[in-house]
Amino acid sequence: MGKFITFEGVDGAGKSTHLAWFADAMRQRGLDVVITREPGGTPLGEQLRKILLNQPMSSGTEALLMFAARLEHIEQVIKPALRAGKWVISDRFSDASFAYQGGGRGLDWDKLNQLEQWVHPDLQPDLTLFFDVPVEVARQRLANNVSLDRFEQEQADFFERVRAGYHKRVQQNPQRYVVIDAAQSLDIVKHKLEEIILTI
Ligand code: TYD
Repeated sequence: MGKFITFEGVDGAGKSTHLAWFADAMRQRGLDVVITREPGGTPLGEQLRKILLNQPMSSGTEALLMFAARLEHIEQVIKPALRAGKWVISDRFSDASFAYQGGGRGLDWDKLNQLEQWVHPDLQPDLTLFFDVPVEVARQRLANNVSLDRFEQEQADFFERVRAGYHKRVQQNPQRYVVIDAAQSLDIVKHKLEEIILTI
């Protein structure tokens, strides 16, 4: 079996930049790596992503669609790749639902636990890299983007709650996470990632 690694953080934390670099470094070590993302990762999931990022909806609908896309992603992409001995690196997974729908939108944490139990009772990432950054720093980075999606357009207090949601998840299961101070320069974060790669 391969290993399942997820990247998490508030919008603007820089996780996508680091993910590309991390996957390249793993490939250079000769590992067979599959890069994927949520919401998305399958043809259906990518269609749901367009809706989720653009269409206003209730927080319950948002959570259900995130987990619907996830179920498809797990069955069509993640599990088959792991069974084939590949390493799967996903840009976001269920921690994002707890942080954004649970923390950000205020959806009942227990409902999300139930969805998680339904959709992936037997799968959790082997490792989650959580790029943690103060909300002001993340928002300054997003300010350069020309077009912002439905989540990125939210106000600072929403992102404070998202960040708190991530912290709650980390506290509930600390051994699964490496928390990276993503306010540091790209080079320092890269160095930290190099160290992590040596341990896996
Ligand atoms: P993101 O991963 O930030 O992609 P990009 O870097 O291309 O903007 O975009 C996905 C958005 O979806 C992000 O704002 C967080 C949100 N999201 C949730 O609210 N819940 C979830 O379960 C997932 C996977 C993502």
